Amino acid sequence: MDIQDFVDRRRTFAIISHPDAGKTTITEKLLLLGNAIQLAGTVKARKSGRHAKSDWMAMEKERGISVTTSVMQFNYEDCVVNLLDTPGHEDFSEDTYRTLTAVDSAVMVIDGAKGVEPRTRRLLEICRMRDTPIITFVNKLDRESMDPLTMLEHIEDELQIECVAATWPLGSGRSLKGIYRMDSDELVVYDRSAGNSDSGPRTIAGLHSAEAQELLNSDYEATVETIELVRDAGHSFESKEYLAGRQSLVYFGTALQNFGVVDLLDRFVEIAPGPQARDTNLGNVSPYEEKLSGFVFKIQANMIPKHRDRIAFMRICSGKYTKGMRMRHVRLGRDIKISDAVTFMAGDRTQVDVAYAGDIIGLHNHGTIRIGDTFTEGQDIAFRGIPNFAPEIFRRVRVRDPIHSKRLKNGMQQLAEEGATQVFAPLSSQDMVVGAVGSLQFDLVAFRLREEYGADCAYDPYPIHTVRWVSADDPTILEEFRSRLRSQLALDGDNQLAFLATSRHNLRLIEDKWPDVRFSSTREHASVA
Ligand code: G4P
Repeated sequence: MDIQDFVDRRRTFAIISHPDAGKTTITEKLLLLGNAIQLAGTVKARKSGRHAKSDWMAMEKERGISVTTSVMQFNYEDCVVNLLDTPGHEDFSEDTYRTLTAVDSAVMVIDGAKGVEPRTRRLLEICRMRDTPIITFVNKLDRESMDPLTMLEHIEDELQIECVAATWPLGSGRSLKGIYRMDSDELVVYDRSAGNSDSGPRTIAGLHSAEAQELLNSDYEATVETIELVRDAGHSFESKEYLAGRQSLVYFGTALQNFGVVDLLDRFVEIAPGPQARDTNLGNVSPYEEKLSGFVFKIQANMIPKHRDRIAFMRICSGKYTKGMRMRHVRLGRDIKISDAVTFMAGDRTQVDVAYAGDIIGLHNHGTIRIGDTFTEGQDIAFRGIPNFAPEIFRRVRVRDPIHSKRLKNGMQQLAEEGATQVFAPLSSQDMVVGAVGSLQFDLVAFRLREEYGADCAYDPYPIHTVRWVSADDPTILEEFRSRLRSQLALDGDNQLAFLATSRHNLRLIEDKWPDVRFSSTREHASVA
């Protein structure tokens, strides 16, 4: 096989959902179907610490464990599937956002009773930034769910994405009889007691068969009518539209009962895109290019936090990684030998020594790797599109004992570089402001500052609503902006200028007043030396 064959078999994706919609449950079923785990409950166990929000040791432990489960690789059909996990804690959403920059497609899980929820909406917005293709799974069909037609309309309205039903639910909750496969004209019979049985559920050929009529009984006429309506009047699936992120295939099922999930997975490996070309400062890099290249999208503390050993997750974008090879750390302009990269294979502990575009490898990091860094086989290129997201909550941070100010500064700089939080230094004061997307991030930062850097610190409220990174084509305009609004400006951890808005109204006002200044809610990491 040449490199193209290896690359084309890769499917790298993440699951997006609102907490409790069933992400963990469906992950587990996918791993079971991929034979990556043998027992239901394996993934669930990992999540059991989620309620102990104040127990930091437990959280550290959880974070440690999740290093090994952050990427779950398994084989299915002819494909090598890389499922990138996003943090269980809803507050760690910055990590989640960035993980979405490392995938080629996503599966969106929606609770069949609740419909589209806020976090799903937010995550979809992030997917939109790269036109990520999305397949939808409407979950919890074993509970009373929204009428499927209403659900499709609801998703279309809420998320502005065209929906094409791939399966159709035959009832829900107690009256759930099964699902109908739109393409193959087959009914899959739901049998609650069958659960995770190996033999799979019973199927019936043809909606117009006597068997189907018997199964659906008094609902038969109405069901046939609706399905025909959907088939005639609904959109038809177009790969091009799906790949452009404008159309989503929708599956219905219940992850808990492992019903309808296999339909999703079968189609996923068939239609989901393999590794895509990626944008760099010097143009696109094809995944088939022979030389290795990749970027770091996430950094995570390792099992023993005191050693400050971190794993940097690198998405391979082209070429082939082999154990012991030399790589160029482009930002530092240095060649380094990578002998101990970690590869991830759920269910298989032996180290994999080769990886291709689409795969994720973990590099040991002792403080030299930052989010957004590019690694290559010598090419001086830098990948684009690994963003910082504007934080939504802010605090002023101070050390309890001023003697430790330097520790705080060092610690904050490191934590900001690895993406655990964002720091801002207002131009007009000595304050150090931390910004986060979720409030739990603050507690984690305080914990790590104390444990890893010996800086015991406290937070004070800081009255800003949001930040916007500012730039302008005309340097004189920016200079004027800078001097006029000095009291509302700050430098972030990468010395980029940011406007600290006190309210939404304040932001709008200033934006209107300065039409030649760009205000952006995301900023790319600096990744070139
Ligand atoms: P998340 O990762 O998206 O947060 O969701 P998770 O899979 O943990 O599911 C959240 C809850 O919903 C869990 O119940 C889970 O068992 C349940 N669930 C997931 N899929 C289905 C489904 O298809 N049908 C039904 N009826 N329930 C489903 P829990 O009580 O919070 O946890 P547990 O005690 O079951 O572990």
